[in-house]
Amino acid sequence: MADKSDLISIRDLNKHAIMKILTRAYEFKQNGIPQSLPDKIIATCFFEPSTRTKLSFETAILRLGGKVIGFSSDECLSIQKGETLSDTIRVISNYADLIVIRHPQAGAARLAANIAACPIINGGDGENQHPTQALIDLFSIYETQHKLDGISVALVGDLKYGRTIHSFVETCILFDIRLFLVAPDGLLLPADLCDVLKQYGIRFSFHNSIEEVIARVDIIYMTRLQKERMTQLHGEYEFNNYCLRSEHLTLAKANLRILHPLPRVNEIDFAIDCTEYAYYFQQAKNGLYVRAALLNLILKERHE
Ligand code: NCD
Repeated sequence: MADKSDLISIRDLNKHAIMKILTRAYEFKQNGIPQSLPDKIIATCFFEPSTRTKLSFETAILRLGGKVIGFSSDECLSIQKGETLSDTIRVISNYADLIVIRHPQAGAARLAANIAACPIINGGDGENQHPTQALIDLFSIYETQHKLDGISVALVGDLKYGRTIHSFVETCILFDIRLFLVAPDGLLLPADLCDVLKQYGIRFSFHNSIEEVIARVDIIYMTRLQKERMTQLHGEYEFNNYCLRSEHLTLAKANLRILHPLPRVNEIDFAIDCTEYAYYFQQAKNGLYVRAALLNLILKERHE
């Protein structure tokens, strides 16, 4: 991990560090989360809406025996009086032992890490990165496929603005994961990330429909249209072609599992929820164990 054990980008972690977090998360899921952080105060600073990230972090903190301070919008902060994000974080970092930040601006978490006295975890910065979600995705893949190397994953939907996609794609350079990128022309994976995949020799290909790839993959990772990050008209995308329907699953391999970072809008038929392929709610539950493991490792075993 980087200085102060910040986690800003998934690339702050090497394969060994990722496996250590996933192993600890597995232990917590099997044996329960120990009360290992009774003396710690953690701030959850959310400048953007969140259900899973904020509440799973807060549940993890409470299960670890720690205490939570924080906010879920800047409406009640001195930012309203003109205070900068830097000053806000500098002050909070002298109260808390660790800050989890979510912010609509790409780069905000890195800025926070540069000025904070305590470790910073990025809970999503604009369209940039969402590293803890990538850890949850890997955990859920391992849980369902019993391996990370040698699997095939289809990433479907808004690959341009989806920060969970951006972080996940960067884990593929550490594991032998073959990628099928299924997106409308206007929402393709950004060129700099395609360059990273090429540079590391990761196999990937572009597709226009779920039908083209469904029979070939172990994991199908669905995403919603990130309307809040779009400056242009959204209606121009035929997004219905990028929604998973029950009929698609007739072509699926038996081990196929469907992931989605959630929230779902209309990307997955509700009828699919009760099939053996659906894994997105278990994935969201895994957020608790993975985030507890990460906090435990950063705050308890920082000097290991
Ligand atoms: C994601 C996010 O915030 O980027 N949600 C999450 O944290 N599970 C995905 C999304 O909002 O589409």
